[in-house]
Amino acid sequence: MKKNSKNPRLFGIFGNPLAHTLSPAMQEAAFRQIGWKAHCLVFELGPRDFRKAMARLPRFPVEGFNLTVPYKQAVIPYLAALTPEARAVGAVNTVFQKGGRWIGANTDVYGFLTSLQKEGKFKPRGKKILVLGAGGASRAVIYGLASRGARKIRIAARRKGRAAMIARDFRKVFPKIDFEILEGPFEKLKPAFGDSDLVVNATSVGLKKKGPVLVPEKVIPGAGKKILFFDLIYDPFPTLFLKAAAKKGHRILGGLGMLLFQGGKAFEYWSGKKAPVEKMRQALEDGLKERHSRSNDIIF
Ligand SMILES: NC(=O)c1ccc[n+]([C@@H]2O[C@H](COP(=O)([O-])OP(=O)(O)OC[C@H]3O[C@@H](n4cnc5c(N)ncnc54)[C@H](OP(=O)(O)O)[C@@H]3O)[C@@H](O)[C@H]2O)c1
Repeated sequence: MKKNSKNPRLFGIFGNPLAHTLSPAMQEAAFRQIGWKAHCLVFELGPRDFRKAMARLPRFPVEGFNLTVPYKQAVIPYLAALTPEARAVGAVNTVFQKGGRWIGANTDVYGFLTSLQKEGKFKPRGKKILVLGAGGASRAVIYGLASRGARKIRIAARRKGRAAMIARDFRKVFPKIDFEILEGPFEKLKPAFGDSDLVVNATSVGLKKKGPVLVPEKVIPGAGKKILFFDLIYDPFPTLFLKAAAKKGHRILGGLGMLLFQGGKAFEYWSGKKAPVEKMRQALEDGLKERHSRSNDIIF
């Protein structure tokens, strides 16, 4: 489609489930702000339809798109190249075109680090960090922390093998960083919590307001030493995990800023223009208000 035609420019998001995604509203607010007539389409596809869509990528009528669970890895074979970050993390959440080629990027790393630094006022260099979970988001978080010079990164997961794989991959890229694997259950992690400057929840535990809880409250140390607790989940805010940490006097940060800044970076890849971050934040907050007015316990 010609960019100067009267047709709206098209972008998209692929994932499953996507019923409650806030990303299209955030991106469309940004496009409006720069005067573009553009839509962000929602492609909630099963694996077979996803593969069919990707096989037709050269003729697909979108200029760029996002990916979320479960397609951040599955998209890779269809792309001409990856950014160094996406290659190291092994996951792509943003695809854009350059010189007629489809390129995969990972803006979760940027989103996480920007939120951590701007909103959490936290610099990873020289710090000890505990990351809970060993899924896709955990890889982006750990890569980001390692690339900013964290001293020690402990990875705790209920499946030791997944955490060990992350540590093995990143030890090759960051040989000076001390990676340690901790096996669940998370109830046993009190010493690791107490020895951390930052604790990140990168599991999906906490999406429901009423539980289950990620760790019992007694695992979180008293605030003799102040720890920053960062939960990648943005709804609800605060999660039960963050509530317990705040009650013990620690600083807390939810995942909305990460969602915002990863979306801002994706927008910049697509448009080549600076992201209107405050407009995008407003769109996210409006979307959340609307979501909460419709339901008291939404999952995604
Ligand atoms: N704010 C943002 O912009 C942003 C961006 C990306 C992701 N996220 C959030 O981050 C979370 C993780 O996303 P993801 O993409 O990494 O998902 P994922 O790849 O499915 O990984 C989920 C992780 O949670 C673990 N887990 C699930 N239930 C658990 C339980 N009961 N006890 C212990 N561990 C458990 C899984 O362990 P197993 O491997 O053993 O199943 C896995 O390590 C989600 O809540 C997602 O919404 C937020």
